[in-house]
Amino acid sequence: MMIELSDVYKTLDGRKILQGLNLSIREGETYVIIGRSGTGKSVTLKNIIGLMQPDRGEVKIMGQCISQMSKTESYEIRQKMGVLFQSGALINWLNVEDNVALPLTEHKRHLPKSEVVEIVRQKLELVELSHAGKRMPSELSGGMKKRAGLARAIVGGPKIILYDEPTSGLDPVMSNQINDLIISMQKKLGVTSICVTHDMSSAYRIANRIGMIFEGKIIEEGTPQEIKNTQNPIVKQFISGSTVGPLTQ
Ligand SMILES: Nc1ncnc2c1ncn2[C@@H]1O[C@H](COP(=O)(O)OP(=O)(O)OP(=O)(O)O)[C@@H](O)[C@H]1O
Ligand SMILES: [Mg+2]
Repeated sequence: MMIELSDVYKTLDGRKILQGLNLSIREGETYVIIGRSGTGKSVTLKNIIGLMQPDRGEVKIMGQCISQMSKTESYEIRQKMGVLFQSGALINWLNVEDNVALPLTEHKRHLPKSEVVEIVRQKLELVELSHAGKRMPSELSGGMKKRAGLARAIVGGPKIILYDEPTSGLDPVMSNQINDLIISMQKKLGVTSICVTHDMSSAYRIANRIGMIFEGKIIEEGTPQEIKNTQNPIVKQFISGSTVGPLTQ
């Protein structure tokens, strides 16, 4: 398994968020996590990238338990992961190019400047932001921030990409362009991805498997077709967006 969470518990501010979460992501697959707002989807991603530690349970990346890694090992693993944060998380005082270049210039990667410029140029082209490289984050629309965040997530040539709500706030055409980009990252580069989304049409389009978080656990997982045909009333209500059902009692 590429990513494995076993029996992960996390309490935040006295609230039990993750309560025995299990998740196994295979190499090369795109796994979509769905679930209501506040159920711990972003918290799950933070436990995978090591921004948060589980209270109990284990997170393994490429077979290695992250809590048992040395500083160097966790740094090396972190280099293999690209993350698109929910907010885009651009640094306000750096322009788009410098934001995208960050994973290449931080710490001690000794890449020649010309190479960095070229890689950044390619990634900006991929997300259709070639014209906006010199702009500051405050001068970007929401969709442009997302795309800049995406360019930064893929700039280091990651093996694993974590996407938190990559299409929220984007118009339908741009959403599909992002979906296609996620699919092409998988096809062309063979990356393993986890994507958190509320957008079911995007989930069905990009996912190999979809898993739903409810009360701190994955309550159901399966292929898009299996999820569409689910008999679980909670999943059924969520994917149809119905206001009547177990989620709103
Ligand atoms: N650092 C933190 N400190 C305290 N509470 C937190 C922290 N991070 C998240 N939480 C809480 O944990 C719960 C789950 O948060 P999380 O961000 O994972 O939700 P989510 O499923 O990603 O929701 P959304 O779909 O709205 O993004 C929320 O109640 C949130 O307030
Ligand atoms: Mg979230």
